[in-house]
Order: sequence, then structure tokens, then C-alpha cells
Amino acid sequence: MARPGHTAWLLLGAAMLLFASAATAQDCLSATFSGGRTFGRCNSMPTLGASLHWTYHPENGTADIAFRARSGTDGWVGWGINPGRLGMAGSSVFIASQDGSGTASVLMTNLDTTSPSLQPATLKFGVPAGPTVEYSGGAYTIFATILLPGNTTQQNTVWQAGPLSGGNIQPHPTAPANLASTQRLDFLSGSSTGASNSRLRRRNIHGVLNAVAWGILIPTGAIIARYLRVFESADPAWFYLHIACQCSGYILGVAGWGLGLKLGSESVGVTYHPHRNIGIAIFCLATLQVFALLLRPDKKNKYRFYWNIYHHSVGYSVIILSAINIFKGFDILKPATGYKTAYIVVLATLGGIALFLEAITWPIAIRKRKRDADKASNGTAGWQQGA
Ligand SMILES: *[C@@H]1O[C@H](CO)[C@@H](O)[C@H](O)[C@H]1NC(C)=O
Ligand SMILES: *[C@@H]1O[C@H](CO)[C@@H](O)[C@H](O)[C@H]1NC(C)=O
Repeated sequence: MARPGHTAWLLLGAAMLLFASAATAQDCLSATFSGGRTFGRCNSMPTLGASLHWTYHPENGTADIAFRARSGTDGWVGWGINPGRLGMAGSSVFIASQDGSGTASVLMTNLDTTSPSLQPATLKFGVPAGPTVEYSGGAYTIFATILLPGNTTQQNTVWQAGPLSGGNIQPHPTAPANLASTQRLDFLSGSSTGASNSRLRRRNIHGVLNAVAWGILIPTGAIIARYLRVFESADPAWFYLHIACQCSGYILGVAGWGLGLKLGSESVGVTYHPHRNIGIAIFCLATLQVFALLLRPDKKNKYRFYWNIYHHSVGYSVIILSAINIFKGFDILKPATGYKTAYIVVLATLGGIALFLEAITWPIAIRKRKRDADKASNGTAGWQQGA
């Protein structure tokens, strides 16, 4: 069955994955800083659109750091080190915020508990220079020189973003991205590991699998079925291409869906009801489509007309629900903006191709229907009812 088509789609999927991971890897390397400051290493944090840039000086155990994180003017961001454990309580942090006039400032404080007093304090590590802060282009950047606690390069780091109210720092949200914002960072090698990393990686795999399967393969298969079959020379190739797209989309999509359910069951206390329910509905409808293929009446069968209506309405519902759910997923995962933009570009391209094909196939379809009606005495084979 149409192996070339199948392979092409797998290649496209792989290319998307590569593109997406390259986009995030580039994020921190391309950053520039005011005053011509440069840093030897950087790390794109897995959550909250944050990155840390630093130069480590082994001779005196200090690091010049720049922490950058996206935020609106009505938000704060923070970064710090916890000398004791990986987590918020016990950490010493820099928190950047701004007042009503847009003047940014940075607070140094110790977070003794998970509901800290936020009083200015001397940190648990030395701060030989800074901190200073800038807000521009929708992001804060905190600059400081720090003495790495214990004179060791492996540190428990934390970062966060939250809202301001009248210039006052408000508690951060408890979305998974906010709860997963800790990692152990090696200032010498730049490598990072965190309890959150494996889970976050699986969330990203869930997102990419589902976006490729439900967001690209399935709509492409529908476009092939709707427009290619109008050309007689494409018969029956379009059918096999359609099946190849939908089957590979379904298999990848069910894998991504299963991973999503598993992630959902693991996240105690946080359930995204609409995302989860739409996901389950998509799975049920798509599974119906697989049965539809098996129960498809013959072209001449009088029930074929009703089967077509059913097949098309379920199919279009899956495509629309998938697009909605992918955007809901972006809202939950809050990945680097590259992902969302890439998906919007793909969606717009598919839409553009569909519109273009709609325009060029209409006249052909009408001619074909006329011809079929002329030659068929009992048939109802037109392009709407065909296949
Ligand atoms: C930190 O350790 C390095 C060797 O790893 C040493 O050269 C340096 O003097 C130490 N710095 C401090 C402040 O103890
Ligand atoms: C640490 O060492 C670097 C490189 O020699 C130097 O530029 C920096 O000023 C030193 N920092 C402190 C606080 O001594």
C-alpha cells in the first residue's frame, strides 16, 4: 500500500521535529545584550521562555550571569540558587519587577518558605557586582556577578514568573510550567538536569506527535481525498495516499494521545478538563473513522450516500477539534514561540492549498458530474458522492 507516500510523510514529521528542536536550541545562543556584554555559555530553560547566560571564572569561583525571561509589563520574573535542595523553599533569588511608570528594579531576597515575606535580604551567596535589571522587548534581563555557593559549579537553580498588582509582586501561578521551573545546572559544562526534565521532554513529545498527526497528517489526507480524486488520472492513487496519511496520522496520533493521558494521570491535582475531553472526543471520532473504512459500502450501494455524509462530517469534526485542541495544548505547555508560529504557518499553508485547489477543481468537478449524470442511468456517482 502506497509506501512512497507513507515514507514521505514520516520524513516530513521527522523534519518538523528537527526544525522544532533546532528552533529551541538556537533560542539562547542568538541573544544579544545591552552595553556589548557577552557571555560564554547559555542554557534555554525548559519552561517559561527563560534563559540563563553566564561566564564562569574558575580562578575566583564567580560567574557573571544574565537571566532573561519573557513577561508583560504587568509581571515579574525571578532567578536564584538554592544551596540546600532542588526547590523553591530555601533559595536565594533575584526578582525583577516594575512600577506603574515602567521603572524596573530588582529585589534580592531569601525564600524561606513557599509563601515568603519578600523582604530585601543578604543572599546565601556573595554578590560581588550588581544586580541590575532591564526591561525591553517584552522581557526582563537581570545582570549580576555571583559567588557560586560552596565554590562548586553544580548548583540547584530555580526561576519563576508571575503577575504584579499595582507594582506589588503577587504569587506565581501553579501551572505545570511554573511548578517545573527548577534544574541542576553545571556552570562549567553548561549541562542541566532536573526532575522536571524527563516529564517536560515527554510533554514536548506529546505535543509534537499530536501536532504532526492530528494537525498536519490528517488534514493533508483530507485535502488529498477532497481534491486529488477529482482528477481521473489520480484514481486510485489518491485513495491509497489518503489511507496512508490517515493511518499514519491515526497511529502517531493515538501514541501521542496515550502519552497525554499518561501525563494527565501523573499530574496530581492539575487537570486540564477541556484539553482532556476534546482529546478523548477526537480519539473516539477518529476511531469511528477507522471503522468507517472497514464498513464502507460499495460505491453502487444505496447507503453509500449516507455513509459519505457520515464519513465527511466526522472527518471534518476531527480536523476542527484537533486544531482547537492543539492551541489549547500550546496554552498549557507554553513552549518557545517558534512552535506555535510553525504550527500557525503550517495551518495557513494547508488552508491556502485547500482554497487554491477548491478554485481549480470546481470546474473539473462540475464537468465530471455532468458527464456522469449524462452517462449513468441509475448511478449517483458525482464527486460529492464519489469514492
Ligand atoms: C574555588 O576553587 C578554585 C579551584 O577549583 C580555586 O582556585 C579558587 O581559589 C576557589 N575560590 C574560592 C573563593 O574559594
Ligand atoms: C574573578 O576573576 C575574573 C577573571 O580573572 C575577573 O575578571 C573578576 O573581576 C574576578 N571577580 C572578583 C569578584 O574577584
